[in-house]
Amino acid sequence: MEIEQWVAVARAARERAYAPYSQFKVGAALVARDGRVFPGCNVENVSFGLTMCAERVALGRAITDGVREFAAIIILADTDQPVSPCGACRQVLAEFDPGLEIHLCTMRGGRERFSLGQLLPRAATGILNRS
Ligand code: THU
Repeated sequence: MEIEQWVAVARAARERAYAPYSQFKVGAALVARDGRVFPGCNVENVSFGLTMCAERVALGRAITDGVREFAAIIILADTDQPVSPCGACRQVLAEFDPGLEIHLCTMRGGRERFSLGQLLPRAATGILNRS
């Protein structure tokens, strides 16, 4: 099943997370419309505020490869309830697809599906919106 293949990509990325401060590893898999899948993991920093979430790391990889059209993102952590993306990641993903399909997944098989519009209604549009 397709989603489980994407989850496997996120699981492998999660293994490589650099999370010495929180010990909380997150994996992401950003699925492009052309079928390519871009993994991401969180990258923490001693200056805590510089930490990069798995979602934005995955997005950066895709953009760097010239890919800007997305179908879905998998977000995976080892929790009882699926983790929900932070506000910053929601806004950054909305830049490319305000309706992106989001799968929140746990290592133990928890699966929840949302659209980005549900998680971030009325995302900021700023200068994209000026006349
Ligand atoms: N984190 C992510 O990478 N993505 C999320 O959706 C939730 C939080 C990371 C940031 C930090 O390295 C660690 O998880 C603890 O919050």
